[in-house]
Amino acid sequence: MWAGRTLIHKECMDSTNEEAKRGADEGALHGTVYLADRQTAGKGRRGRSWLSDSVENLYFTILLRPSLAPEKVTMLTLVMAYAVSKAIEKVTKLQTGIKWPNDIVINNKKVCGILSEMKLEKQSPAYCVIGVGINIGQTSFSEELQDKATSLRAEGASVTREMLLQEILNAFEGAYEAFLRAETLSPILDAYNAHLVNKNRNVRVLEPSGEYEGIALGVTATGELLVEKSDKTVQKVYAGEVSVRGLYGYV
Ligand code: BTN
Repeated sequence: MWAGRTLIHKECMDSTNEEAKRGADEGALHGTVYLADRQTAGKGRRGRSWLSDSVENLYFTILLRPSLAPEKVTMLTLVMAYAVSKAIEKVTKLQTGIKWPNDIVINNKKVCGILSEMKLEKQSPAYCVIGVGINIGQTSFSEELQDKATSLRAEGASVTREMLLQEILNAFEGAYEAFLRAETLSPILDAYNAHLVNKNRNVRVLEPSGEYEGIALGVTATGELLVEKSDKTVQKVYAGEVSVRGLYGYV
C-alpha cells in the first residue's frame, strides 16, 4: 500500500495542504499523508477558511505525483469524494451523498469538504495535494453553520479518526489506480452518480460569466456536471459553484 505509507502527524499545522506543499517542494514521496489534530489556518475552497480547532475531527492531505495532463488532474478531487463517501458508508453504515464536485453530505448537511491544489512545472503537474476535512466528533456548530453542517457523531455514528483515515486511504488507492489506467472517471462513474445529490434537482450555477438555473442530469466521465436549462439545452459545467435546492439552507 502506497497511500499513507509515510504518515506525517503533528498536533498542530497551519494547514495540512500547506504542509504537504512544503514537503513536496522538498522531495516528499507520492502517497505521503499529512495529518494534523488541528489547523491554525485551515483553508476551504474559493479562498474561504475551514474552521479546524476541534481535535475530534479529521484534517489530512495526501500528496500525489501523477503523470497526467493538468486538466485530468482536476478529476482526482472527484476520485477522493468517491473514496470518502465509500469509506464513511463502510465504517458507519450511514448513507452519504456527494454534492458535485466534492462535498460529502449526510441528511442534507455537509460532513466533509475537499480542497485540491496543483503545482505546475513547464505546463505539467509537478504534484497535486488533496486535502480532506471531515467532521467526526464535533457536535455543536456556530449559528451560521448549524443548518448546513453535521458530523458523523451528530448523525449517530461513533468512529475513530484512525479507522476512518485507514478506510479512506484504502478506498482511494484502488480508485486512483483504476482512474490512472482509464484516465477518466469511468471506473467509478456509476457509483459517483448514484450518490450525486444534485441529480434531477434544481441547481443554480454560479459562473464568472453569470448565473443560471437548471436541472442537474449527472456527471460525465471527465467530471463535468450536465445541467439542463429551461430552454432544454444542456450545459456542461466545468468549474463554478452549484447550489442545490433544499441543501445548506438554499430554498
Ligand atoms: C471546502 O471548502 O469544502 C474544502 C474544505 C477542505 C478542508 C481541508 S481540512 C484538511 C485540508 N487542509 C486545509 O487547509 N484544507 C483541507
